[in-house]
Amino acid sequence: MFRTKNCGELRLNHKGEEVTLAGWVQRVRNIGHLVFIDLRDRYGITQLSFDQNSNKELCESATKLGREYVIQVKGNVRERSAKNANIPTGEIEIDVHNFVILNESETPPFTIENNTDGSEELRLKYRYLDIRRPHLKDTLITRAKMIKAMREYLDEQGFIEIETPNLIKSTPEGARDFLVPSRLQHGSFYALPQSPQILKQLLMVAGMDRYYQVVKCYRDEDFRGDRQPEFTQLDCEMSFVEQEDIFQNFEGMTKHVFKQAKGIELADFPRITFADAMKYYGSDKPDLRFDCKIVELNAVLPKTDFAVFNNAIENGGLVAGINAKKCANYTRKQLDEITEFVKATHRGLGGIVNIRFAEDGTVKSSIDKFFNEEQLREIGQQFNAEKGDLILIAADKISKVRKSLGDLRLDLAKKENWFDKDAWSVLWVIDFPLFEKDEETGDIIFVHHPFCSPHPEDLQYFDSDPTRVRAQTYDLVMNGNEILSGSIRIHQKDLQDRVFAKLGLTPEEVDAKFGFMLNAFRYGAPPHGGCAFGLDRWVMLMTGGETIRDAMAFPKASSGKDLMMDAPAVVDVKQLVELGIKTI
Ligand code: AMO
Repeated sequence: MFRTKNCGELRLNHKGEEVTLAGWVQRVRNIGHLVFIDLRDRYGITQLSFDQNSNKELCESATKLGREYVIQVKGNVRERSAKNANIPTGEIEIDVHNFVILNESETPPFTIENNTDGSEELRLKYRYLDIRRPHLKDTLITRAKMIKAMREYLDEQGFIEIETPNLIKSTPEGARDFLVPSRLQHGSFYALPQSPQILKQLLMVAGMDRYYQVVKCYRDEDFRGDRQPEFTQLDCEMSFVEQEDIFQNFEGMTKHVFKQAKGIELADFPRITFADAMKYYGSDKPDLRFDCKIVELNAVLPKTDFAVFNNAIENGGLVAGINAKKCANYTRKQLDEITEFVKATHRGLGGIVNIRFAEDGTVKSSIDKFFNEEQLREIGQQFNAEKGDLILIAADKISKVRKSLGDLRLDLAKKENWFDKDAWSVLWVIDFPLFEKDEETGDIIFVHHPFCSPHPEDLQYFDSDPTRVRAQTYDLVMNGNEILSGSIRIHQKDLQDRVFAKLGLTPEEVDAKFGFMLNAFRYGAPPHGGCAFGLDRWVMLMTGGETIRDAMAFPKASSGKDLMMDAPAVVDVKQLVELGIKTI
């Protein structure tokens, strides 16, 4: 046998056993006449021990081993004299009789340790070395455990895994497609799926009833820490269901995965409407690990000459604020930083008002000229302000005020450590609008995708006030990250036609893009609905990663490049000719 044990499994009860191990040399330590080597594999680290006094030659060759050499060793397990409580194998070591070098290694470009000296770029280039580091290795193990738990649960609930093709026609998830040119039909392209959305709906028409798939999705969109051009979804669809069935099923699955992969028991998930999420947290993915709700003041503000508040209200805008607990002692500089934060172009406020309820009981504000102390205290009451609190108030268009306060709430929570590190906030956000207005063009566009079913009771506004129509759409939000989206789908051809028409698609465009799907709907499409989890995001959260790159084996760098393979890359002219493609 190549090895009889791995580097993570030996304990004191193996004392005296002869074993063969194989792995990588993590480090070599010379202490007087003794040489110690940490031998590492996926399972752990085992200490090897060599003694000059008992085998000089063997000991000398051991000192010559370099970092990351691959070796096979034979020896006896014995109790260590100096134990290491930090590792599971820390009570034993191997008294080595002989070893074989299976492969040498050049000195790696960075240290293979959690606290490595390698930059992210370098680590992405040598990702196979990066994965040898415990944290990344453990992340991939947790990822596998999570997928296993998902499969277990879904199998138990009667779901079956069905693969769908990667070379398809464009799917409407709102991003740009990656295109694959056809060699056999020059000028025609396959699109890589942004998700298997249409295919899973067709599987419902096909009567498969409960489908899932761990599936790669491809979206050519701008980079962010929580996005990759190629990412994995746990994609699911169910027939003959209402929203409630989906909530029960996937809440159950999420809890099962937490239990299996992390031993964590989650409480029932709260539900909050999109409208309330925006109103109270300024975000459709609120982080509820801390409170700090937005408080609206339009109806309760005292009458004054303060134009900023008055104008906002007269123009149909909003005056609202948050209570930054225990921040009343912020310095001028810190207050200025908050102002700059809300003035950033993507937030766009002109400034922010502050009211400081000092520890000594006094009240000071940036609007002392317009509001007397009693009025300031009245406003403070809206926030349950106590001594030491800082109230921050914004006045502008509703969307700007909510976005700014929502962002500010999160920023302050990070700076002030309002998070309980071990807490989990997992909640459903429900009742998203079906349509929204494109801010630039004023066109009606879909919020999730065009197959989401409207709430039956809102159909009355479909023509008169389309943005008022709520969809049967839901997200699952985990610690402020959207990790699932889904909806009950439209299964009637007529309603689907109406939605496409509202989105400004002509019947010809609809036919060219979705004709095959609408055709299927002529043949008895069952009511159906489903969802997709963003697996990488979920793994990132479960493993304490900072970006989803930390949750994947071979991610792209933020430039969109695969730094290890150096892709995308120029191809042979011959290949382009075969595809009928000329580059410009
Ligand atoms: P959606 O587009 O919201 O819905 O995607 C579902 C989930 O996938 C994750 N996600 C991403 N993760 C990493 N990189 C990306 N570029 C990226 N884009 C999305 C998010 C998101 O919640 N077909 C529908 C689902 C459905 O209706 O059933 C869909 O794909 O966590």
